[in-house]
Amino acid sequence: MSTSLAWNERYAGGDFQFGEAPNLFLLSQAHRLRPHMRALAVGDGEGRNGTWMAERGLDTTSVDWSEVGLAKARALADRRGVALPTVTADLTRWDWPAAAFDVIAWVFVHLPPEDRAIACAGAMRALAPGGLLLLECFSPAQEGRRSGGPKDPALLWTRALVERHFAGLEVLELLDGTVALDEGPRHQGLAEVVRAVLRRA
Ligand SMILES: C[S@@+](CC[C@H](N)C(=O)[O-])C[C@H]1O[C@@H](n2cnc3c(N)ncnc32)[C@H](O)[C@@H]1O
Repeated sequence: MSTSLAWNERYAGGDFQFGEAPNLFLLSQAHRLRPHMRALAVGDGEGRNGTWMAERGLDTTSVDWSEVGLAKARALADRRGVALPTVTADLTRWDWPAAAFDVIAWVFVHLPPEDRAIACAGAMRALAPGGLLLLECFSPAQEGRRSGGPKDPALLWTRALVERHFAGLEVLELLDGTVALDEGPRHQGLAEVVRAVLRRA
C-alpha cells in the first residue's frame, strides 16, 4: 500500500527519484502556458514539475503528502531562484480550493480507485474556467515493464478513466501509447502511458 511514510522513505537522501528536469510531456505543453497563470502541480513529490512551471513564470503551488519530497521541492525551487509554495496534504482529504487554478499538472499520480475518484473530483473543483488539466500516467500495458509505475494494476490509468473522471472538460488531446522515459533512477526505458490535455470551457 502506498503511504506518505513510504514516499518519505523513497525521497530520503540526496538523489531525485524522477530527476530534476520536468516531465517531457509537460514540457511539450509549454506553448499553452503563460506567465502568471495559477498552476497546481498535483502529487509533485520532489518538485521537478512545479519548479519548472514556476521558472516559466506561472504562480505555482505544489501539493503532495510527502513532507520529505516537498522539502526537496522547495530546495530545488530555491536553487533555481523561484518561489514554490507547497501544501502537505493527502489528495483525498485536501480541501481543494474552488476554481483556483488555470493549469493543473497531474504527472504519474496513481491512486486506488476510490481515492482516485475523490482526488479527481477535487481537481475538477479546483480547475478555473478556461483552465487546463495536463495528465500523464501509466496505462495497463505498463504491467510487467520495469520502467516504473505502481505494482497494483488497479492504480493504472486508461483513456476511459480520464473521460469518466474529467467528464465535461473539452478533450484537446487524449492518447495512449509507448514513450521512452529518462527521468531519474525510477523512470527509465520504454513505458506505456496515457496522456491528456483537457480544458474547462
Ligand atoms: C510517482 S510519484 C510522481 C511525483 C511527481 N509527480 C513527478 O512526476 O516527479 C507520485 C507522487 O504522488 C504522491 N502521492 C501519492 N498518493 C498521494 C496522496 N493520496 N496524497 C498526496 N500525494 C500523493 C507521492 O507522494 C508521490 O510524490
